[in-house]
Amino acid sequence: MVEPADIDALVEEARRAVAGAGTTEEIREVASAVAGKKSALAGVGRGLGALEPEQRKELGRRLHEARAAVDQLIEGRRAEITAAELARELAQSRVDLTEFIPGSVPAPKARGHLNLVTQTQAALEDVFVGMGFLVEEGPEIETDWYNFGALNIPPAHPARGMWDTLYLDLGPPESTLLRTHTSPVQIHLMERAVAQGQLPIHAVMPGRCYRRDTPDARHLPVFHQIEGLVVDKGISFADLAGTIEVFTTAYFGPDIHSRLRPAYFPFTEPSAEYEVTCTICLGSGCQTCSQTGWIELGGCGMVDPAVFDAVGIDPDLWTGFAFGFGIDRCAQMRHQIADMRVLTDNDLRFLRQF
Ligand code: FA5
Repeated sequence: MVEPADIDALVEEARRAVAGAGTTEEIREVASAVAGKKSALAGVGRGLGALEPEQRKELGRRLHEARAAVDQLIEGRRAEITAAELARELAQSRVDLTEFIPGSVPAPKARGHLNLVTQTQAALEDVFVGMGFLVEEGPEIETDWYNFGALNIPPAHPARGMWDTLYLDLGPPESTLLRTHTSPVQIHLMERAVAQGQLPIHAVMPGRCYRRDTPDARHLPVFHQIEGLVVDKGISFADLAGTIEVFTTAYFGPDIHSRLRPAYFPFTEPSAEYEVTCTICLGSGCQTCSQTGWIELGGCGMVDPAVFDAVGIDPDLWTGFAFGFGIDRCAQMRHQIADMRVLTDNDLRFLRQF
């Protein structure tokens, strides 16, 4: 016969089994074993019918209490297991939002600055604007007429050889080319001034030029010039020389010496070459100046009457002078750059110095 102590023992056994369950699955199995239809407690319940009424009542009460206690144990453990499993799941699926916060503010993007050649062009323009010149521009693609013909360089003229360039096959009627100097802008300005009745002219014309030149310490195949043109009444070579003298002091300072050497250009007569003391060797001779102590910065001269004829200006009424300086060469001499090729190397260590 079942004793109340047996029921207590079953409850104690259930308590141990429940405490040993660690997962939802295990607590389900334990619950079935200690409180299910086939459990020992259920067996006790089934045996009650055979007892005396008094005994059945007493044992039935104890059994009821025992089952309630076991059910509570099971529910308590199940709640613990569910909470632990949920906590584990949450911990595993945790998103660490700090991972998406940048560790440090990125450094601000470095700002570049104008290339030395562009800075030089602006500085040269400033000097000439200060002397009363206007700044004008012309096309880099020119016709044969503007680059050569109007400048008194007919076909087969030997000067075409030293000013060879890339010819662009843009079709007839005239061959087009990449301009070899800024002198064709003189022609555009004079034509416009004649058409609009706006003589005199005092202008400088900076821009890019192209030549079939092999790069070396003083040459690039793509380089820059600043052209100057004055057309007025009573202009003489003294005006040209004075203008160049003022320019030299304003741009290079009083310590740089310059000279004009007789030369030849088809579009000026007389013509001269403008040279400054080589700033690399200070005149003693070096590789940059080919051991001469001087660096040629440009050509200049009095506008040839043949050019005035080509644009319809009366050479008996008007005279003028013109010059064309290399902008890259000016930068080279001002900043003592031994080899001009560094201007196109894009080496930031060089570029950042200016
Ligand atoms: C001329 O280009 C003439 N148009 C200059 C001129 C203008 C004369 C007006 C008279 C009147 P030249 O070829 O010498 O001349 O070039 C003038 C200057 O351009 C040179 O002294 C030099 O400073 C620069 N230069 C010429 N070729 C190159 C080159 N390949 N690379 C860098 N600079 C150059």
